[in-house]
Amino acid sequence: MKTPALETYDVVGVGFGPSGLSLAIALEELEGDALESPVTAAFFERQSAFGWHRNMLLPSAKMQVAFLKDLATFRNPTSRFSFVSYLHSVGRLARFVNNQDFFPTRQEFHDYLEWAEARLSDRVTYNTEVTAVRLPAANEHGDHLKVEITDHNRGESRVVDARNVVISTGLVPAMPAGIERGDRVWHSSEFIRRFADCDPAQLRRVVVAGAGQSAAEITRYLYDSLPHAHVYAVVPSYGYAIADNTPFANQVFDPEAVDDHYFGTDQSRDAFWRYHRNTNYSVVDDEVIRDLYRRVYEDEVRKVSRLRFFRLCRVAGIQGNGSGVRLSVHSLLVDQAFDVEADVLVCATGYEAMQPVGLLGDVDDLLRRDGDGRYQVDRDYRLSAAPDLPGGIYLQGGTEHTHGLSSSLLSNIAVRSGEIADSILGRRSAGRPATPEPVVTMTDPGRLVALRQDLGAVQ
Ligand code: FDA
Ligand code: NAP
Repeated sequence: MKTPALETYDVVGVGFGPSGLSLAIALEELEGDALESPVTAAFFERQSAFGWHRNMLLPSAKMQVAFLKDLATFRNPTSRFSFVSYLHSVGRLARFVNNQDFFPTRQEFHDYLEWAEARLSDRVTYNTEVTAVRLPAANEHGDHLKVEITDHNRGESRVVDARNVVISTGLVPAMPAGIERGDRVWHSSEFIRRFADCDPAQLRRVVVAGAGQSAAEITRYLYDSLPHAHVYAVVPSYGYAIADNTPFANQVFDPEAVDDHYFGTDQSRDAFWRYHRNTNYSVVDDEVIRDLYRRVYEDEVRKVSRLRFFRLCRVAGIQGNGSGVRLSVHSLLVDQAFDVEADVLVCATGYEAMQPVGLLGDVDDLLRRDGDGRYQVDRDYRLSAAPDLPGGIYLQGGTEHTHGLSSSLLSNIAVRSGEIADSILGRRSAGRPATPEPVVTMTDPGRLVALRQDLGAVQ
């Protein structure tokens, strides 16, 4: 794969986090079988260097996915980009195995991602933000999608042509309604940077809102890093709830579960969410929960009370008070609000799904939506579009309603990016028709047909 000076690409990737990286690997590994001429791909990333949720790289934070669910292994177990290849290359394979732990630290996985990125850095430009994907204007040459880029390296905007655009822009931080970020009010996604800018001695009362993994990790970190401070956790639940990582439930992240979600019924899709949301959202790893509980208990034995929980409570509003922040906290228990003064509020209040709509401009008019106004997405992650769309637009993320729970996660990243690469390469071999027909089958792949036959045989 090359990134030529000519600014027309087979693939323009928007964002170079793990999803973009995994796609670059899949394109490289799959194009070998493919074609007469190399696939041209260019990725644009707005950060100034590779980084995966850097502001949450807390020292003891562990991965929430097994190391074998890396950028490539589930698609290609012999890939040179696997986590095992990384361990071998840095000389830690034997010692990693001695740990007998499927879940590396986030620090180590970040190091792995940087190692993989270093082998692909010729196809990504950092400091470049994609601002729009649009149709060619009447006076513009070309039958491709136009991708507008603000290039902070060159201090200019430019447009490149794309036969396919893959949007992998990641989750969007969510704040409680009516609460804005500021010097004293942080979202968890900016935590390490904000904390580094503070004088820890000045932080005597800190509040963490939320009961998910981010909240629990930050609460633990603040408690340990600020031994002189009071840490208040505002949790909407009665206490942190456990992330279900048990084997049967974990099957919702298997590659086959994507077919079951995609080709199932509205009732089965609803059941996926109702029964298995607790594998990922508003839940915390067992280890972190027990670690925090131990601190509270040991404090109680020592007759100190430094970590306090406001249970069944939500942060409802804030007022700045000069040097700190005054929060209004609503207790669900008594249906009443009370005030809490703090030096800092950290909102570990989660994320919205990836939102491509802001990028899609006039293209959006050609995209099909379902009865609830959500994008229709083909099984190969391509947005379903009217015939006159001059190219394919694929999503990595933002497809929970069609492809299920793994859409924003790492679990299925290798297989997903392989399916997208296959679709792009397949359409290219098929001669890139102006009205591209799906190459990856869009009908029930046979799995559910077989299931129906099995169920028939049971009777
Ligand atoms: P990601 O957000 O990582 O990358 C998107 C990239 O696009 C970013 O680098 C961004 O700068 C760039 N970008 C955005 N808009 C752009 C634009 N307009 N132009 C150019 N670039 C743009 N999941 C899991 O399965 N296991 C785990 O252990 C974890 N751990 C975890 C920790 C934390 C702290 C969080 C917040 C989330 C997780 N997740 C997770 C879920 C998380 O979504 C997942 O790990 C990956 O970040 C998904 O990778 P993406 O590349 O899709 O998004
Ligand atoms: P999350 O799971 O969505 O949790 C957000 C929490 O904030 C929920 O408990 C939510 O409660 C609560 N909340 C929302 N508004 C609130 C308010 N006004 N007051 C108080 N609480 C409020 O988000 P997350 O913890 O950031 O996790 C997001 C993703 O990142 C997950 O996939 C997670 O696994 C991942 N992650 C991974 C790691 C790691 O790998 N080590 C670390 C951090 C995060 P309700 O549910 O009631 O709204």
